[in-house]
Amino acid sequence: MKSIIPAAGLGTRFLPGTKVTPKEMLPVLDKPVIQYVVEEALAPAEVDECIIVSSPSKPQIASYFTRDPGLEDLLRSRGKDVYADAIAEAGSVPVSFCYQSEPRGLGHAVRCASFATSGEPFFVLLGDYVVPDKKILPRMKEVSDAHGGASVIAVAACPADEVSRYGIIAGEPVGAVADFPGATGDEEGAVWRVTGMVEKPAAGDAPSRLFAVGRYLLSPRVMELLSDQRPGAGNEIQLTDAMVRAMAEEEFYALVIDVHEGYDTGTPAGWIATNARLAAADPRFAAAFREAMEA
Ligand code: G1P
Repeated sequence: MKSIIPAAGLGTRFLPGTKVTPKEMLPVLDKPVIQYVVEEALAPAEVDECIIVSSPSKPQIASYFTRDPGLEDLLRSRGKDVYADAIAEAGSVPVSFCYQSEPRGLGHAVRCASFATSGEPFFVLLGDYVVPDKKILPRMKEVSDAHGGASVIAVAACPADEVSRYGIIAGEPVGAVADFPGATGDEEGAVWRVTGMVEKPAAGDAPSRLFAVGRYLLSPRVMELLSDQRPGAGNEIQLTDAMVRAMAEEEFYALVIDVHEGYDTGTPAGWIATNARLAAADPRFAAAFREAMEA
């Protein structure tokens, strides 16, 4: 089974910082964002390879995941084995690349990796969203297995005034939520049967407050439907539109996660918050971080 990581976007929300450094290569603590995403993508036992859909203008991502024996030898000759091991590891993960020549939307980027999925279900992980504990994908797989291999997307509740930033689901909670009186279905762990989805709705048009956070487990039918998907919102080929067409043919589910389980690193504010949260929790950086905050 493959994990697809679309990482071809222009990073406009983080300019000028992303003018020459792709947003996926910005470091969070001491590793680029994309390394967290790749590690998460490879965490489920079923996944044997990760396909990064990059842009020809972002060669740094492929360079990062390529071995550099010269640099490794130099570091080792200077006794810096810890760093040599770290870069050797980054160059050894099962990652391959394909390229999206123009930014034509998330659906188009996913479609660029169709050669790799060979008619199997596949994960999609947005390349600027970090999930430190890597636990969302295995839980999505469990929900999918419990529903005959159906597609499952991860969603979280957002305030009403933020719905226009995301893909918002329509549907109803199923399963365990019905056993808890007073539950709304927005609670972490709830599972929804999804019947529709709207990309970036106006506040009054949103069918729920649950937004797609950027983790998808999709059936092969979604990939087939992407092959003739026409442009939608923003004149881009939207993954949301292909998923909506699939919902008319197949069961489709959403797993509600805690909104604080993952971090969007694609804006300066989100990137700063991600670094702050991870630094505060990392014994290597916590003391220096606290001292800086108290100064
Ligand atoms: C994409 C998806 C959207 C999702 C969002 C999560 O939008 O199209 O459904 O909610 O990612 O960040 P984008 O942020 O690329 O505009």
